[in-house]
Amino acid sequence: MKPLLHALKGNILSPPPVWFMRQAGRYLPEYREVRSKAGSFLDLCKTPELAEKVTLQPVHRFGMDGAILFSDILVVAEALGQKLWFEEGTGPRLEPLDSADDLDRLTTRHFHDRLQPIYETLKRLRESTPAKVTRIGFAGAPWTVASYMIEGGSSRDFLKSRIWAYRESTSFARLIELLVEVTADYLVHQISAGAEAVQLFDSWAGIWPEAEFRRWSLEPCRRIIERVHEVHPEVPIIYFPRGAGVLYEACAVESGAQALSLDSSVPLRWARDVLQPHVTLQGNLDPACLVAGGRAMETAVERLLWILAEGPFVFNLGHGIDKTTPLDNVAELMDLIRGKSVQAPA
Ligand code: CP3
Repeated sequence: MKPLLHALKGNILSPPPVWFMRQAGRYLPEYREVRSKAGSFLDLCKTPELAEKVTLQPVHRFGMDGAILFSDILVVAEALGQKLWFEEGTGPRLEPLDSADDLDRLTTRHFHDRLQPIYETLKRLRESTPAKVTRIGFAGAPWTVASYMIEGGSSRDFLKSRIWAYRESTSFARLIELLVEVTADYLVHQISAGAEAVQLFDSWAGIWPEAEFRRWSLEPCRRIIERVHEVHPEVPIIYFPRGAGVLYEACAVESGAQALSLDSSVPLRWARDVLQPHVTLQGNLDPACLVAGGRAMETAVERLLWILAEGPFVFNLGHGIDKTTPLDNVAELMDLIRGKSVQAPA
């Protein structure tokens, strides 16, 4: 079996398989070249032959065990009829949702038609992905996608979304419910098109108090995982509730996911003792440590392998790779994971 799939199914591999969140992107010169020819970032996501090419660029250069589909979590909002564009420097922009009335303008009528190019990218990847490399599909979790839809883009604190959730929980629940349905369906289609594992990104899960975390992050994700498994029970699902803190334990026990992706703040011994008996763990090298490289990176990698690699483990970062990451550091990190004998840190 492919190493990454094997680890996601609960097996211990030495060395552990490795991939990086946002491994295709602006730190790669070959990405910047394709990106400049494609026009906009969204054009790139929706041109299957280019998206296919960009998906495989980091795999060809560094030999990761996973190839994550090149796309974005926000194409789901666009497929529901919300205007989406990416501005150089500021990131994603959407026409914001301001009230319950705005939800009526969202429609599932053209959902899969609009996502057809994404499915097409996965179909092409079926032919071109190296034999030992696992194709990873993904979607944003309902809360994280909803927050961008309501704020109209990135936000420091997601205050508008949080106030909406408290003040008008009925309409907020309607939006989350819609996103549960379409996201489960979207992942099912990605798997049918060729994804062998999928990751749910809940990048902003960590801003909620416990009750709201359970209601708006964990429970919607649990339902998506349940629905995907009804159709594709054998496909491993990786859940990334970034910033969940001690609530990672509830995610490990209750979500139904086969693997949890850990952000960089999760204490490793705690994760090993409390989470790893339930799920494969993935993560959690600080992306800044990969930018810095050198001794700091070596020490962090050794510690991570020492503590987590005796159980089911997938090497990854605690969040996406930074665009200033030096290529040599990525190559060195691959060597550290694959090549070096692991010693107890001093
Ligand atoms: O991991 C991969 O290589 C696959 C592709 C991928 C992208 N975005 C490509 C991308 C994935 C899995 C995502 C997920 C995503 N997108 C998340 C969840 C993960 C996370 O980082 O928390 C979120 C919140 C988004 C929304 C988004 N897309 C933002 C906030 C931005 C702007 C930030 C930035 O780096 O510019 C994007 C743009 C984006 N998505 C880029 C890439 C390669 C950069 C666009 C460019 O090339 O100009």
